[in-house]
Amino acid sequence: MALVLVTGATRGIGLELVRQLARAGHHALLGGRTARKSAAAAAHVAEALSGERHPATPAAVTPVVLDVTDPNGIEQAVRRLKDDFGKLDVLINNAAILLEEDRALSADQDDVLRKTMRTNLHGPVAVTRAVLPLMPAGGRVIMTSSGGGSMTDPIGGWAPAYCTSKAALNAATRHLAFELGSRNISVNAYCPGWTKTDMGGMSAPRTVEQAADTAVWLATAERIGTGSFYRDRMEIPW
Ligand SMILES: NC(=O)c1ccc[n+]([C@@H]2O[C@H](COP(=O)([O-])OP(=O)(O)OC[C@H]3O[C@@H](n4cnc5c(N)ncnc54)[C@H](OP(=O)(O)O)[C@@H]3O)[C@@H](O)[C@H]2O)c1
Repeated sequence: MALVLVTGATRGIGLELVRQLARAGHHALLGGRTARKSAAAAAHVAEALSGERHPATPAAVTPVVLDVTDPNGIEQAVRRLKDDFGKLDVLINNAAILLEEDRALSADQDDVLRKTMRTNLHGPVAVTRAVLPLMPAGGRVIMTSSGGGSMTDPIGGWAPAYCTSKAALNAATRHLAFELGSRNISVNAYCPGWTKTDMGGMSAPRTVEQAADTAVWLATAERIGTGSFYRDRMEIPW
């Protein structure tokens, strides 16, 4: 059983990650911006799992208050993890934003870029740094990226600040993988694909079940490499 922290897990893909992890018998720490939201989401998952006809294993879901843009909040959350569990096996950096006004880097949108980078790049890097003292050898960090951050795919003009933040997150993934290799901590990124959530919208072709699968695999497979980018359990180019 692994102890896995998922950030931004109050809805969408993060919530589904928690459900799949708990269902598989892991202990999922459900990160949410407020105590109310994270407790409500954890109760929702626990209830859904207990209502299954043949629950595979008892669900273990613990809410954690964690706003990835709040340095004091991150420190408090990590202190609590240390006191309550003494370690963290896996971190899934899932929290992100895509702002409605994210339209053109050539327009005066500095505030959009700053806010987006703060949540989507600085957030995951800060949370990763903070949990490292709790991570044993064999620990894993999973970054939720996007095909929008690819340096290989053609540019479509869509949400440029968001795409820039994910490209930067990909670069950070590779650097962290290099830095943490000597501690035997793996760092990988994955793209969940275009998924039906508040962020992805209802026209998206993929379900949250499909979207979460690769991160659950990266979190729990017996052997996993480091410093790579995945979609549907397959390595893809950066
Ligand atoms: N959906 C897609 O098509 C798609 C495609 C590619 C990649 N992704 C990536 O997949 C991940 C999940 O996306 P999603 O579609 O599930 O998004 P979503 O439905 O918009 O949910 C985002 C989650 O992140 C949380 N969050 C936002 N800012 C936060 C902060 N500062 N601290 C902590 N939590 C915060 C939100 O919490 P609140 O409820 O408090 O707002 C919410 O739980 C993101 O990294 C996204 O970039 C999504």
